[in-house]
Amino acid sequence: MSTTGTVLVTGATGTTGSRTAARLIAAGHRVRAASRRATPLPGAEPVRFDWYDPGTHGPALEGADRVHLVPPVGDGDPAAVMLPFLRRARAAGVRRVVLLSSSAIPEGGPAVGAVHAALPGLFDEWAVLRPSWFMQNFTGTHAHAVSIREEGVIMTAAGSGRVGFVDADDIAAVAVRALTDDDAPGTDLILTGPEALGYDDVAAILGDVLGRPVVHRRLTYEQMRDRLTAQVPPDFAAMLAGMDRAIADGAEDRTTDVVERLTGRPPHGFRAVVERELVRGG
Ligand SMILES: NC(=O)c1ccc[n+]([C@@H]2O[C@H](COP(=O)([O-])OP(=O)(O)OC[C@H]3O[C@@H](n4cnc5c(N)ncnc54)[C@H](OP(=O)(O)O)[C@@H]3O)[C@@H](O)[C@H]2O)c1
Repeated sequence: MSTTGTVLVTGATGTTGSRTAARLIAAGHRVRAASRRATPLPGAEPVRFDWYDPGTHGPALEGADRVHLVPPVGDGDPAAVMLPFLRRARAAGVRRVVLLSSSAIPEGGPAVGAVHAALPGLFDEWAVLRPSWFMQNFTGTHAHAVSIREEGVIMTAAGSGRVGFVDADDIAAVAVRALTDDDAPGTDLILTGPEALGYDDVAAILGDVLGRPVVHRRLTYEQMRDRLTAQVPPDFAAMLAGMDRAIADGAEDRTTDVVERLTGRPPHGFRAVVERELVRGG
């Protein structure tokens, strides 16, 4: 492990950022925990940070030599705010950046794909985490978790396509390695859980764990897009529904060894994670 100065963790109140910050703190690193309200986090220095308020960027970067980047959620063009921030970070002395992207978004692809493409030209030390879909989509505040609680259904346009669902704790464990190992990965890393599951499998496991029926309702692309438009801007809804269609076509039917290779232990399985979070509450 290299001697880190301070890691600025953006999205520190969110699903992956909170876990990354907690793991960094537990490993003895100094953490600045960034969120719009500077929400306190035990062991970290809370800082106010808003992607859309550049006045918060300089103060948030003070003293940081590494940054964990969670993009502005739901923004179809995050590069517009992220690239000026990254140039500022470099000028302020940041030397390593780890970016959270997605397995579905390649370098140079839509949304955060443009930030991925720019990262190697900005920093010598970098990594792009490209996780598959989060297991926490079924346990937290995500639309799937809400529809499971309220109606016992999961609605997708993914058909019988399979996804290598990954535990957000495993993403955080990899993020800590990428941020603090002597050598930065200098590449993108596709993160999955131990197996690829269809949404029918997911519904069956959740029904079993919860002790009540959960069904996967198969929507068309158009039905999915229109449902999502109630929650996010239309362009973003179309992109998300398109990702479901890609899943139906097999785009996410894979597993990788990245979690085990970087953390030294296998990734957590879906049943174990939902039992941990839904039955044991943590
Ligand atoms: N869910 C999945 O299956 C999945 C799969 C692959 C990749 N991803 C990617 O994961 C990312 C989301 O990560 P996550 O689930 O860890 O996040 P999250 O739980 O949605 O949390 C978002 C975080 O961003 C902060 N935030 C929101 N608006 C902000 C703003 N304007 N300025 C600064 N901070 C802001 C929030 O903090 P405050 O509200 O406290 O400010 C919060 O800490 C997305 O980019 C998504 O593409 C998700």
